[in-house]
Amino acid sequence: MSAHVVKLAPSILAADFARLGEQVAEAERAGADRIHVDVMDGHFVPNISIGPVVVKSLRPVTRLPLECHLMIADPDLYLDDFAAAGADSILVHQEGAINLHRTLQHIRKLGKRVGVVVNPATPAVVLQEVLADVDLVLVMTVNPGFGGQQFIASTLPKIRRIRQMIEQVKPGCELEVDGGIDAHTAPQTVQAGANVLVAGSAVFGDKEGVGAAMQRLKASVV
Ligand code: DX5
Ligand code: ZN
Repeated sequence: MSAHVVKLAPSILAADFARLGEQVAEAERAGADRIHVDVMDGHFVPNISIGPVVVKSLRPVTRLPLECHLMIADPDLYLDDFAAAGADSILVHQEGAINLHRTLQHIRKLGKRVGVVVNPATPAVVLQEVLADVDLVLVMTVNPGFGGQQFIASTLPKIRRIRQMIEQVKPGCELEVDGGIDAHTAPQTVQAGANVLVAGSAVFGDKEGVGAAMQRLKASVV
């Protein structure tokens, strides 16, 4: 996977919510490719974050695509709301969607980019029957629910396997990684086949600021 195609998706979970618009603008100026929005409901994951109202407020303040990562029970109930709020892509967990195929078709019908997410303990093989229907696979490299966790290195062989599956079944499908991604772990995931990097703490938690952090992250995968 050549480095120049690697995209950065800053996760606003680590941003200062009191000045969210500004932080998103900083990320956009620093060359972010999309904004990653972590939605948590306190059921599917043991944390609560944000919902469609925040997506709606962000929509007019950035030209970047808004990627909504739904870590919620029963995602089917909220797909229309996120689409209406201005999501450009909607990502659902394989583990949380009882009728995954139906859920993915629903997102497609809403005219949004379709993503499927797998947790660290979930094997690559569950993607086999849905890969042709998605635009993006997101591999969690931490257990979902919190920012600032340590990268789980045992996910690397799975990233490699999924990259092989993508090349065979749907070469245009993106392979994104999420959790504990920084200038040290990013190159390992890119080498394994990832081409989109989600980063929260490594972007918004950096002492030198968002711009410097993103430059460092980009430089690590060149
Ligand atoms: C975790 C979220 C991540 C999180 C990543 O459940 O899906 O997107 O914001 O945060 P960092 O980059 O700090 O691990
Ligand atoms: Zn996420």
